[in-house]
Amino acid sequence: MCGIIGYVGGRPCYELIVRGLEHLEYRGYDSAGFALLDAERDRFSLVRSVGKLEDLRRASNGSAERLAGPTTGIGHTRWATHGRVTLENAHPHLSGDGEVAVVMNGIIENYVDLRHRLQDEGVVFASETDTEVLPHLIRKHYAGDLVAAVRAVLAQIEGHYAFVASHVSEPNRLVAVRHECPLVVGVGTEETFVASALPAFLGETRDVIYPDNDELVVVDADGVTVLDLSGEPVVREPSTWEGSEETAEKGGYDTFMLKEIHEQPAALWDTIGSRLGADGTVTLDGIGLEDPTLARVERVHIVACGTSFHAGLAGRYLIEDWARIPVSVEVASEYRYRTCLAGPGDLVIGITQSGETADTLAAMRVARERGAHVVALTNQTESQATRDADGVLLTRAGLEIGVAATKTHTAQIMALALLALKLGRMRWAITEAGARELAEELRRLPDAIEAYLESPAPAAVADVAAHFVERDFFLYLGRHVGVPVCYEGALKLKEISYVPTEAYPAGEMKHGPIALLDEGSPVVVVAPDGHVFDKVVSNIQEVRARGARVIAVATEGNGEIASHADHVLWAPRTPALLAPITTIVPLQLFAYEIAKGKGLNVDKPRNLAKTVTVE
Ligand code: M6R
Repeated sequence: MCGIIGYVGGRPCYELIVRGLEHLEYRGYDSAGFALLDAERDRFSLVRSVGKLEDLRRASNGSAERLAGPTTGIGHTRWATHGRVTLENAHPHLSGDGEVAVVMNGIIENYVDLRHRLQDEGVVFASETDTEVLPHLIRKHYAGDLVAAVRAVLAQIEGHYAFVASHVSEPNRLVAVRHECPLVVGVGTEETFVASALPAFLGETRDVIYPDNDELVVVDADGVTVLDLSGEPVVREPSTWEGSEETAEKGGYDTFMLKEIHEQPAALWDTIGSRLGADGTVTLDGIGLEDPTLARVERVHIVACGTSFHAGLAGRYLIEDWARIPVSVEVASEYRYRTCLAGPGDLVIGITQSGETADTLAAMRVARERGAHVVALTNQTESQATRDADGVLLTRAGLEIGVAATKTHTAQIMALALLALKLGRMRWAITEAGARELAEELRRLPDAIEAYLESPAPAAVADVAAHFVERDFFLYLGRHVGVPVCYEGALKLKEISYVPTEAYPAGEMKHGPIALLDEGSPVVVVAPDGHVFDKVVSNIQEVRARGARVIAVATEGNGEIASHADHVLWAPRTPALLAPITTIVPLQLFAYEIAKGKGLNVDKPRNLAKTVTVE
């Protein structure tokens, strides 16, 4: 989390830095700030504010003249880890004499010890952050060479981080370094950017260097040098970013989340692309395994966090049913600390839309060390996940800005469906005719969702949601493929509307959660057509017998459900195993409408950030 940016070049950099931060704001929006190196006055112009980038712009208003000149600067948008959300804890942080400025993303794990040692030496800290040890340490080791000082500091710090440092005595220079946190370098004409992610500078340059862990990026007026830890130069040629320049535009929608919900048909189409033949043949270039090896995979392990984890849970049904391969799905933050039993012959899939989630990357690393073949299922080419994995399976959902993941989720399930179909065909678990049929169903899905989104159904979801805006608890129940949909629907609601939710396999309800129900308690029941439909109906009866109000998510055309539920949210008809792609759409809309009804900012929910780069 946190977005960092630095600029050295010939142009005044205030606007470049703030605009860059606006493109990084999805990484955190607790506070923001920048330090521009005012060479004439031999000091930094520091502006910080609590809140979002618009607050930072407001805070800068009074200093327009002072900020117009500098051509070297660093900036930061914060997701708080160490220290509360206050002005003092906003980055950049400065050394006591104001000569060194630093912005950081990540965590310095031994900061307490370092802080105490510096305090014993008389250093006074201005913030509660772990980051602040960096400017003080750099200042302490500075003897006219910022690179040497940063190298000395790297020998003392532990953790995972990416930071950019600047010193007033070296006005056209920045030194940046990454250790398990992202950092990219944008090489322009007589100017250079360093940042957490490409969107920070894609509008200015597409020539990019991707430094490795523990490489020092030294940015000067005449270009970039990359050094290893011993100070030896490393050759790193820029490559040209070929992707589209995805800008954060709402395209006529009120919010990014709503726009992204409506972009799901396109995301699904693009994820299928030319990978799926009419005969059910699937081509997954980039996965890094020849077909015969893939066919012999013994077990699949899926590791992921949050919404990506829920996509993995949905994918398990597809892979187990279509390919007959056992699948385990685990939250990456747990997997990474368990005894890992994956090995050669196993396929480990790390699902991460951002390609940056620290726990997912760590879990993938653990599995790779054990000799498993690791594939990154991600929406970001050139992300850390793609660099850490043996192979890549890309979703093509386009940039997702809303913190609540929507289109990347359904695209992830689609990618897993393609993989399942491929595995199933290769292992002869699916017949030729079966593969043809499934290919047709998969191709039908995007259109079905498009038709749904253009129909009166979303307005009907809004009407139902209006009855429940004031409710303070929701229980989500489902069986079989309905379970991951419950988890995901409940997560969507809690993260954007701050309403507590509980999501459970319906069969487990009687083992505890039913005690939560009271007269009028809203219970969302995911009940698509399929072999467990009748069982789910029985569970509906049980909760209704306790006075619950049931909102059922059901398959269009089901003639029975309306008599069992108080409200029905319809979802497009699809084969049962693909229902997680369709049934989640009304639940995304339901969560959206409740949050809007409460007047909340759905794109930037409190306490959250789009990418979680700390564990
Ligand atoms: O980028 P990733 O897919 O690895 O992100 C994982 C989670 O942080 C993410 O899905 C999170 O749960 C979203 N806010 C859900 O809407």
